Amino acid sequence: MNLDEVLAEINEFLGCATPDAWVTEALKQQDILLIDHANCEKKAATTAMNLLYKHIDREDLLKKMSQLAREELLHFEQVVNIMKERGIGYRHVSSSRYASGLREAVRKGGVHELIDVLIIGAFIEARSCERFAKLAPYLDQQLEKFYRSLLRSEGRHYCDYLTLAQQYSDEPITERVAFFQQLERELIESPDEEFRFHSGVPSAA
Ligand SMILES: [Fe+2]
Ligand SMILES: [Fe+2]
Repeated sequence: MNLDEVLAEINEFLGCATPDAWVTEALKQQDILLIDHANCEKKAATTAMNLLYKHIDREDLLKKMSQLAREELLHFEQVVNIMKERGIGYRHVSSSRYASGLREAVRKGGVHELIDVLIIGAFIEARSCERFAKLAPYLDQQLEKFYRSLLRSEGRHYCDYLTLAQQYSDEPITERVAFFQQLERELIESPDEEFRFHSGVPSAA
């Protein structure tokens, strides 16, 4: 699949496009955007590592999540380098409501928990990919190039998560995907007081 095809698939998978008001805010708050982006890469690696610890009997998961964790840490280093070049200090920025809002809906225990975590992983990767693509045309050359370079790997991460979710489920995951699609859409389309990489509509807008 070429990049346009991946993006088209991702746009179909997501229940909505990123609102323009978020893009406007992101361009105004590029320091927070980059700091929170660095945090997201770190957390993506942590999620993958947690799965590596919990599911040592699932060979495909171990392979994919180990690759993914390495890639996310590489992205983390790249964001931190760009911040350094730009004189943006790495300071504490609280997490957005996004990932925790999705995780609250995870069914506890057994394979259902694993499948929900994998589906959520697919949504987070897909949304990240969609936001990189949406922001890229408005960014300076360096950041545009960087965000376009991330599209491909985040697109692949989305695929990996979704494939694993289906692989480990005895039944079709369509209904669960639809459920999380709706929840994710609410988090993206409702007013959000804090601006973050995965925040909703800036409430001042
Ligand atoms: Fe990443
Ligand atoms: Fe990723």
